[in-house]
Amino acid sequence: MIKKILGKKFALVVFVLLGLLLVLISLVGNFSIFKSEAALVVPPLDALYRLSSASTEERIQDLLSRMSLQEKIGQMALVEKNSVQERADVATYGIGALLSGFGAKPESNTGEAWAEMVGGFIADSKTSRLGIPILYGVDAIHGHSNVPGATIFPHPIGLGASGDAKLVEAVAQATAVEIAATKINWTYSPTLDLPRDIRWGRTYETFSDDSKLVAKLGAAYVRGSQNAVGNTDLDKLFMISTPKHYVGIGGMVWGSSSNKNFKIDQGTTPSDELELRQEYLPPFKAAIDAGAMSVMVGLNTWGDTKLAANRYLVTTVLKDELQFTGFTVSDWYGVYEIPGGEYEASVSAINAGIDMVMLPFDYKSFVKNVERAVKRGDIPQERIDDAVSRILRAKFALGLFDDADKHISLDEIGSKGHRSLARLAVAQSLVLLKNDASVLPIKNSTKHIRVVGSAADNVGRQVGAWTVEWQGIDGNWLPGSTSILEGIKKRAGDSVKVEFEAGGNFVNSTEIAGLGIAIVGEKPYAEGWGDKEFPTLDSEDLKAIEKLQTVSKKVVVVVVSGRPLLITNEIDTWDGLVMAWLPGSEGSGVADVLFGDKTFTGSLPLPWPAYSQQLPIEAGGKTIDGTALLFPRYFKLR
Ligand code: BGC
Repeated sequence: MIKKILGKKFALVVFVLLGLLLVLISLVGNFSIFKSEAALVVPPLDALYRLSSASTEERIQDLLSRMSLQEKIGQMALVEKNSVQERADVATYGIGALLSGFGAKPESNTGEAWAEMVGGFIADSKTSRLGIPILYGVDAIHGHSNVPGATIFPHPIGLGASGDAKLVEAVAQATAVEIAATKINWTYSPTLDLPRDIRWGRTYETFSDDSKLVAKLGAAYVRGSQNAVGNTDLDKLFMISTPKHYVGIGGMVWGSSSNKNFKIDQGTTPSDELELRQEYLPPFKAAIDAGAMSVMVGLNTWGDTKLAANRYLVTTVLKDELQFTGFTVSDWYGVYEIPGGEYEASVSAINAGIDMVMLPFDYKSFVKNVERAVKRGDIPQERIDDAVSRILRAKFALGLFDDADKHISLDEIGSKGHRSLARLAVAQSLVLLKNDASVLPIKNSTKHIRVVGSAADNVGRQVGAWTVEWQGIDGNWLPGSTSILEGIKKRAGDSVKVEFEAGGNFVNSTEIAGLGIAIVGEKPYAEGWGDKEFPTLDSEDLKAIEKLQTVSKKVVVVVVSGRPLLITNEIDTWDGLVMAWLPGSEGSGVADVLFGDKTFTGSLPLPWPAYSQQLPIEAGGKTIDGTALLFPRYFKLR
């Protein structure tokens, strides 16, 4: 047909050209098919990266050389477990890590179900071509607090009050053991932020506003969790711990939050570089020197740049200067808060030095965007290789490619030993702030005690937020726990009459008790939802204290809260004042000290303001309006 239309010679030329074109296409095609086929080959069992006898760096290089671009990008994705669209995606996309933010629990929220769920995801990940296991992360900031029945330790601010690095290391170990029992291998703790302003809803997640103390306790926490007892292979880490949030968090300006629902959380850090280096950086240096393998980059802004887009702070300072060889992970959806849309934001963050992106939802578009960015040269291939090497380094350090299961029994969750450690931690965290006429410890001669207050018989308030639910759950619902009232009753025994009425409405009010104890405080809150302009006691607790004063000879107030509260107008009428922070599941630890079985040893880990006009408080403890604090940092009575 063609011959007829075009003539013989011309047709011959066309055929030859067509033939040449086909050969060319098939060559190019073969080449790319050859490449992707090679990439699709399952490596043999004796591939270098699978051999525990090879060095970690050799194993990383070998594995990296076998990975396709998509597989590399998959490793950089951190996905919230409920956002996994199909189970097979974990292996198909070669997802690097999953997390359970609070809320992403197994259907029945038990230790067994967690172990089964996490174990299942890990098994899925191992079915990928290269068999790279996932990391599975949780916020175990005061125990394995996603799981009802786990030991809930005091929130970090209470541990800060103890000032005791050995205690913090032991708490971190016990927490790591409980987490590992459910097969989780990555914890988003410790928090190394410095709270300069108690109006901030995350004050209690921190140890202190003193950079030196935070450095000491943060390093102890990293050691405790990464090298926990029970680790049978001492060359391997027990857990990956994640100092957070890098950097400058806790000093954000009131009203500067980028989240319209918040005031200060996710806001702007006003510090200059000198202050960042002198105050906020040393705790991260200490944690890195202690071996931390991942660092979470915060949601704050410095200058006009979100931290996750700040190449100078993330790459030059953290990785180059502090010689951090682990991987950086961005905070929840943080990368997409960088302006410019998803593509631009991913490019900025990865180029700034973010290695793993807590997406946490849509991994498919992330992989597409980053692949496009690498192909267009917007993200250099070397940056991807560096990010993936860092993630793999942590995985090898954990022994994930060898037999990584630590075989920790589920009985460790909420074990007796861990609960008595938590009780000790509570006792060490209490701070005695007022003790007129030595009202404390409670005398043996005291035979009638009246107790009031919203936090007296309310474990939900004792444990605070980040306990089973993100925002916490008010009320007595936590299995295995002891409320402060129960602790007092147990210690008081039968010979002491202990009466309780939360609101102070005692029936037999003509009888005057020897002692009144008001256990008062805040409802649980997390993150920016706890940003509060005037953190005070609520009117019901204040009324209960007033009523208690009319039916008791002396009144001691025990504050259960994640931050100092504004009590300047009330404190003069109280005989005693104890700061109990958020003590966790072991309320008996409070009774131990009130009754004198243990002495008060804690001191304030941050200054206690008299008025909110004094906020924020400078590193040296100076108030912004120059007036006197109610109590300075490290105040304590014995
Ligand atoms: C918090 C982090 C936490 C992450 C994962 C974020 O909202 O800022 O501290 O680790 O969620 O739950």
